Amino acid sequence: MMKKCLVTGGAGFIGSNLVERLVDASVQVKVLDNLSSGFLQNLEPFRGYIDFKEGDVRDIATLQEIMSDVEVVFHQAALVSVPQSIEDPIETAMVNDLGTLNVLEAARHSGVRRVVFASSCAVYGDLPQLPKKEEMDTKPLSPYAASKLHGETYARLYGDLYGLETVCLRYFNVYGPRQDPSSPYSGVISIFMDKAARGAPPIIYGDGEQYRDFVYVVDVVQANLLAAQRENVSGVVINLGTGKSVSVNSLWKHISELAGVQDEPKRANSRPGDIRQSVAEISRAQELLDFEPRYSLEEGLRLTWEWYRSRSY
Ligand code: UD1
Repeated sequence: MMKKCLVTGGAGFIGSNLVERLVDASVQVKVLDNLSSGFLQNLEPFRGYIDFKEGDVRDIATLQEIMSDVEVVFHQAALVSVPQSIEDPIETAMVNDLGTLNVLEAARHSGVRRVVFASSCAVYGDLPQLPKKEEMDTKPLSPYAASKLHGETYARLYGDLYGLETVCLRYFNVYGPRQDPSSPYSGVISIFMDKAARGAPPIIYGDGEQYRDFVYVVDVVQANLLAAQRENVSGVVINLGTGKSVSVNSLWKHISELAGVQDEPKRANSRPGDIRQSVAEISRAQELLDFEPRYSLEEGLRLTWEWYRSRSY
């Protein structure tokens, strides 16, 4: 296990779950977050055990300073909204493209051993082949997806040109405690949980038979730890999903049963650009990382529901 690491975006949903696990494993953790979409409250239970700095990945001097004694960087900081990226492609490029390049450049100059980069299945776009395999073509449909693909390219280059170890994890639909439900573009599970907790009906866009590969955040955290430690993974991109899928209709059925609510969902037209089907092929993660998703959807939803139920509204 590494001794000291940096988590960029560590006050966010995935970042804070990762920080918690690293603290549990007695790793010294530094967190850099500009709190634009993360919350200090996400770090509250273990705030005393980490070194938090409010700062921005657009600022390379801050990155260089904070990485001076770090072995591994988990780069989670990003603008994560696809619609926001379509509205503001320049801002997205500044934070995601340039931010990732800054992280890699600071890592190169600071003697960091490895950077683990949070990429996205969005890089596949709507190409019809399923399940999604890493060697398939990519076709970003948004500045967000393009920025993740650019990040992957830079990560590989920094290995080839400068010998910096990099691993890119292509996250599928991640869910779990601390996912913020407050925007209409938040992850569907966080929105459905929030509706169920408030006793309000959700909206299902389209016929609801579109499906996704939902992966529980604790499994994503585990894959990050493996990606930080395994040999012979540098320069590769790895899908991070479960290999299983569920439709939006059955998702609401599961959640409404868990919550004991009877609400019939409202129906609305499908969203422009909505991807019909998405599921990961995960054999590369199994082979290279020994990764196995440990949480079934039922178990993950149950744990997530406990968290949303206990939030104060
Ligand atoms: C997710 C990611 C996105 C990534 C994409 C790649 C999130 C928030 N977004 O988008 O960054 O580019 O994967 O495939 O994780 N839905 C409803 N009702 C709602 C909300 C959503 O029916 O209230 C439906 C959507 O129309 C969609 C499905 O649920 O069909 C999943 O939506 P969402 O959680 O937003 O994720 P993706 O669109 O897959």
